Amino acid sequence: MQLNQHFRDLEQSYLFSTVGRKAAAYAAAHPEQKVIRMGIGDVTLPLAAPVITALHAAVDEMAHKETFHGYGPDQGYEFLQQAIAGYYAQRGVSLALEEIFISDGAKSDIGNILDLFGPDNTVLVPDPVYPVYRDTNLMAGRRVVLAPATEENGFLPMPTPGLHADIVYLCSPNNPTGAAYTRAQLKEWVDWANREDAILLYDAAYECFIRDPNLARSIFEVEGARSCAIEFCSFSKIAGFTGTRCGYTVLPGGLARDGMELAPMWLRRQTTKYNGTPYIVQRAAAAVFTEEGMAAIQQNLDYYRQNAAVLGAALTEAGVTYYGGENSPYLWLKCPGGMGSWEFFDWLLENAQVVGTPGEGFGECGRGWFRLTAFGDAAETREAAARIAAALKTLNA
Ligand code: MLT
Repeated sequence: MQLNQHFRDLEQSYLFSTVGRKAAAYAAAHPEQKVIRMGIGDVTLPLAAPVITALHAAVDEMAHKETFHGYGPDQGYEFLQQAIAGYYAQRGVSLALEEIFISDGAKSDIGNILDLFGPDNTVLVPDPVYPVYRDTNLMAGRRVVLAPATEENGFLPMPTPGLHADIVYLCSPNNPTGAAYTRAQLKEWVDWANREDAILLYDAAYECFIRDPNLARSIFEVEGARSCAIEFCSFSKIAGFTGTRCGYTVLPGGLARDGMELAPMWLRRQTTKYNGTPYIVQRAAAAVFTEEGMAAIQQNLDYYRQNAAVLGAALTEAGVTYYGGENSPYLWLKCPGGMGSWEFFDWLLENAQVVGTPGEGFGECGRGWFRLTAFGDAAETREAAARIAAALKTLNA
């Protein structure tokens, strides 16, 4: 018997499991304290009314022989593919329906897409970044090279002279730093990837937070991206589907490497290992893109944006340097007093009973940084902001 020895290369537990465990241990030891959780970026608003209506109607369909649905089409229902294609068309990106693959979420697709790539590819992963990119490649034993995302480069690594990698992950707006690429910056990555025969794995899970018109919401807004990029998107952040589970991957027709086309490979992979997102969930997801759905969702996004503004104001008041929170639901702050990320995690828990995410958990370059999420309940976020500001004042006193 042999097990996958590459698991030895991983941290013992997934970042958000560690944060959750530490927060639970603190709460158990201090039952009199109200702990406010701003660690994992989980949404707090319920599904929007038009989404719930669609979900109910789909559940009712399942109750009748004439309207019941069993296994769905391989790539997802056409009604949802069409709704997604319409969403992309609004920003000038034209997609064929066969280029849209519905799934149970971007996280699964980001991990699963690696089935398409050989084990000897070199993978470039920004540091810090969503830990799934690094961990899934380490599990498969691939060589991971890190691209530092620092205050100096605006947390947006760019191709450097002589850079070679086969697979590059880009996350924009970025988790955890909140930095987002402009179209011009993405064009540099696209040109580099086309020259190098590399593939860009573009995580657009937070695109709905972008308001600055210079920032790209999809890599396919950039000329040349169809011959080098795959985009992953999610209903979790745009529409609160973290517990409902739905996402999609856009894989352009004709994208090929090493004599093989990637879209048919992905279809083969998905049909072999995945039986599709539930019909009722796909109906709910399609409602997101209706006029009423979009209006309701914008209200929810504004609610989270307001949370980000409240947190940002508290940090500014306390003289703490932070980034993000503008075109992103995350605020990335420099730990005050030269504290390390985990040190500040403990300090904040102890002194404000607020849980955040230590920057170091996203990579070495996150050392001394800390992430707060704006996805919380508004009243709790205001309370957390007041507690954080008050606690930080004691540091400065
Ligand atoms: C996060 O907190 O980074 C995200 O919620 C994790 C995820 O989307 O899987």
